[in-house]
Amino acid sequence: MASYDVIVIGSGPGGYVCAIRCAQLGLKTACVEGRETLGGTCLNIGCIPSKALLHASHMLHEAEENFAKMGLKGKAPSVDWSQMQAYKDDVIGQNTKGIEFLFKKNKIDWLKGWGSIPEAGKVKVGDDVHEAKSIIVASGSEPSALKGVEIDEKVVVTSEGALALSKVPKKMVVIGAGVIGLELGSVYARLGAEVEVIEFLDEITPGMDGEVAKSFRRILAKQGLNFTLGAAVQGVEALKTKAKVTYKLKKDDSEHTVDADVVLVATGRKPYTDGLGLKELGVEMSERGQVKVDKHWATNVKGVYAIGDCIDGPMLAHKAEDEGMAVAEVVAGKAGHVNYGVIPGVIYTHPEVANVGETEESLKKAGRAYKVGKFSFMGNARAKANFSGEGFVKILADKETDRILGAHIIGPSAGDLIHELCVAMEFGAAAEDVALTCHAHPTYSEAVREAALACGDGPIHS
Ligand code: NAI
Repeated sequence: MASYDVIVIGSGPGGYVCAIRCAQLGLKTACVEGRETLGGTCLNIGCIPSKALLHASHMLHEAEENFAKMGLKGKAPSVDWSQMQAYKDDVIGQNTKGIEFLFKKNKIDWLKGWGSIPEAGKVKVGDDVHEAKSIIVASGSEPSALKGVEIDEKVVVTSEGALALSKVPKKMVVIGAGVIGLELGSVYARLGAEVEVIEFLDEITPGMDGEVAKSFRRILAKQGLNFTLGAAVQGVEALKTKAKVTYKLKKDDSEHTVDADVVLVATGRKPYTDGLGLKELGVEMSERGQVKVDKHWATNVKGVYAIGDCIDGPMLAHKAEDEGMAVAEVVAGKAGHVNYGVIPGVIYTHPEVANVGETEESLKKAGRAYKVGKFSFMGNARAKANFSGEGFVKILADKETDRILGAHIIGPSAGDLIHELCVAMEFGAAAEDVALTCHAHPTYSEAVREAALACGDGPIHS
């Protein structure tokens, strides 16, 4: 048995970042992880491997569509699927080993195994029971089940199985037009699969600014993704190497079936708290299975905290990281803070889609007076040179004060561009502050400035 200041349960982006910050603040820290490698869902079976496949398939698309236009002649490359998988696995390995190195550097003990909390102040891992003044639960999330659908991770898969298919399917049906469905759907569409996305709602990506969602759907449709909206999936019948998806159209109650070689179920995730002993410990949980915490991420049991996907809020790695750093400050006796109003969201398709803060819909609902500054990437020289003129930057600012309330980008490197606007919002900046900042030419970032100019006297290049 060992005694620690802090034991973090889970080594995903929330947990490992928290452990590192705790150690940096001088706390004796351990992190419990039952997987063979550190990094949780994000590094092992989520964000990182999917980005490798998105990158590889985008490169193929560039070769097929744009190389010849630039005078780069020759046959477009063909897909060596096992090599692409090996590349993906190598990327995972580099990142998970990187965390192992950071743990050693910061003298964090990795307690290997699945942890539970038999009583406040104690964490059990295998047969060992360790003591900790503070316990931080960062146990993450898992795919939520869909009624009438059994997952075998071969023919009917979650994101985990979809990242490691034995081959590129001829036909893939994606259930759910959310982030996972669209990222992985576009990977397989670019690799040559026929992809059909079935979505319950009447528009893709719920919660996204409506104008952006509509434009995003049109761009994806042009890339070959087929959308069936307003359709409730009734069930999936898995045959040996195929599956049959049955759905009902909400508009007329008509029932339809569609066959696929692979069905990706991407209808959301739920908190993963199995086996932690939280119920027995008396930790309060919400109806949706989330651990309830106060504004300092403390549960109702003294010394037990929770962060990331297993508590309320968007299930995003960077939200978990921020909470991990903040709760580390709290248990070290400092003030930890997360600004939940400025958490960006990014979809890593091509073009990327990024957002932060309010949408037009949320502002209308709140009855707030706002103005819109928009600029198309067609007016951006760099984007045109790179075949990336699709999409736009949209800034929402307070009508009276010009303060930036939200920003939405669909276009090249949107996931990087959004951060200029996040910093602006963090500082309470007005659109004019961004408009008056010199932006290097020629960069995609100029489109952000032009959108800010559009909130005032108008953009130059449109
Ligand atoms: P999601 O919540 O983003 O989307 C699920 C979609 O499935 C919704 O549009 C919903 O209306 C639809 N749906 C639900 N039941 C259905 C049914 N019976 N028939 C048809 N459609 C149905 O969930 P997703 O994509 O599974 O992602 C899970 C979580 O992981 C999200 O919170 C997401 O933010 C996070 N994530 C984030 C990424 C990123 O930031 N780039 C990447 C991957 C995941």
